[in-house]
Amino acid sequence: MTTHIRQRFIVGNWKMHTTAFEAQQLAKGIVDGIGTADHVTAVVCPPFPYLALVGDMLKGSSVALGAQNMYPETEGAFTGEVSPTMLLDLGCKYVILGHSERRHKLGESDGFINQKVRCALDSGLDVILCVGETLEQRESNQMETLLDRQLKLGLAGVSSESLPHLSIAYEPVWAIGNAEHHATPQQAQDAHAVLRRQFSQIFGETEAHRLTIQYGGSVVADNTAAFLSRHGVDGALIGGASLKADEFLAIIRAGIFEIEAEMQPV
Ligand code: PGA
Repeated sequence: MTTHIRQRFIVGNWKMHTTAFEAQQLAKGIVDGIGTADHVTAVVCPPFPYLALVGDMLKGSSVALGAQNMYPETEGAFTGEVSPTMLLDLGCKYVILGHSERRHKLGESDGFINQKVRCALDSGLDVILCVGETLEQRESNQMETLLDRQLKLGLAGVSSESLPHLSIAYEPVWAIGNAEHHATPQQAQDAHAVLRRQFSQIFGETEAHRLTIQYGGSVVADNTAAFLSRHGVDGALIGGASLKADEFLAIIRAGIFEIEAEMQPV
């Protein structure tokens, strides 16, 4: 197998935060500070109402636009929902699917998430599929079974041709928005190894080797290097810390530093 260095993938999930003015200021701060961001793919995912506004501000920059969710139909009578076609129309390249807040607070099932994954990929969006166990599941040794289920059900029917447009975010539910209780880099590395093995059982070793897996759960500028220096931790999905331009930029810089270190000949 040839050595394949995966770009670092840094995604800001703004969740249900910011006003239009704040979204504009935040996007401006990121665009002004980012530069070329070599070897890092940087993405911001604002709330739906600000996608057009933020998308306009990102034009010509190295930051891509993503959405936090979508409905798995291209159009139709689905009051209040947003289609992949609309997201593409607004300039989105990415969509986050299966976030734990949607699984646990809005009751999304693996089957529904799978419909979204397939519809998004068929429509031409790049999918960030979130998986992760609760504390109870971890403590009762169900983590591996749970990740296997979320992966298998979430990716059912996905073709190998779509895989360049898919990444996985490992987000242990107990570590999200919880600075006191974030996962250790070792826990993240171990879970990523589990996911990569499970992925290889579905799609084969070469595809698993190519797969980008990012960690999410209370990543901040100060702990980014500790996560991203771990083997198999290819990026970060960031909530709270992505709402401050300086902090988000520092996370991106840490990503650039780590990939450049990895690319150095030994
Ligand atoms: P957090 O959120 O960085 O605030 O923990 C991460 C996420 O939910 O994607």
